[in-house]
Amino acid sequence: MNDKIKKIGVLTSGGDAPGMNAAIRAVVRAASNEDIKVIGIKKGYEGLLAGEFKELSAEFVSDIMQRGGTILHTARCDEMRTEEGQKKAAQICNALGLDALIVIGGDGSLQAGLALSRQGINVIGIPGTIDLDLNCSEYTIGFDTAVNTAMEAINKIRDTSFSHERCSIVEVMGRNSGSIALWTALAGGAEEVIIPENSSIDENAVIEQLLKNRSKGKRHNLVIVAEGIGGSQELAHKIQEITGIQTRSTILGYLQRGGSPTAVDRYHACLMGFKAVELLLNGSRSRIVAYRGGRHEDIDLEEALNCKKEYNDTLYNIIKTLAI
Ligand code: F6P
Repeated sequence: MNDKIKKIGVLTSGGDAPGMNAAIRAVVRAASNEDIKVIGIKKGYEGLLAGEFKELSAEFVSDIMQRGGTILHTARCDEMRTEEGQKKAAQICNALGLDALIVIGGDGSLQAGLALSRQGINVIGIPGTIDLDLNCSEYTIGFDTAVNTAMEAINKIRDTSFSHERCSIVEVMGRNSGSIALWTALAGGAEEVIIPENSSIDENAVIEQLLKNRSKGKRHNLVIVAEGIGGSQELAHKIQEITGIQTRSTILGYLQRGGSPTAVDRYHACLMGFKAVELLLNGSRSRIVAYRGGRHEDIDLEEALNCKKEYNDTLYNIIKTLAI
């Protein structure tokens, strides 16, 4: 029987991601099972600083795991970047009587969690972002749904591309990470993908590749551009001007953030949420749940946020090989 952890907080922060609700449900249900009270903090750190709380019962989180977005709402909070804001947030957690705070979010949200843990709050992080840009974890909740949404959009764009024998440029999200772009390019059968991690591909290399592919008989083309590179409209104009191939660009934007989470996202959300509570029961402090080598593990929060990852071009090379 757990007699150390009586009350915890949970918040979602930064960009919403499909699967966040499934993670909230897992946290609440795993905690309730141990008679731990869960306080839902609305709008991330902004709501924490503004005192927007709601107790979450096991029953309250029924029927939410299939929903995209986050029932707790979310925000990006500049005040949490200041020491004053971090101290105030810690005081509020203490005044609420929280034994720990579970933070579901991406890099910025977990950095704020680390700052809070330096103020004495026991913070457990769960990676939640469509971007798959946390170096410490091979998975972040929301990624699979975002990639599937982008892939389905490409299936539709391909119909027009085929019919008009056009070149289609599709820009996908990911901030400074090319993960969504690479996976979408592979799953969507793109000929070229431009990502921030791979500086060897520029506009001229893309044009050269397209002309080569046309000379081999390709009648329509697909190029994926990562948000971190941007400029997909300008690229489309340039391709059309130089090659004479009719080219159109589409920026997929926020539709990639919404929608019902896939089974993969629900799987990670359930296991990560469960593990976060398990860590608290084991007496762990300031950890992050990370997916590594096929397992959900935990790492020290500070160490996790300092992890470095080398870019590896294997996926890029496979995309290129399979494209023609
Ligand atoms: O982190 C998720 C993400 O959708 C990024 O891909 C994108 O760069 C950013 O959030 C957009 O942020 P906002 O919702 O604040 O416009």
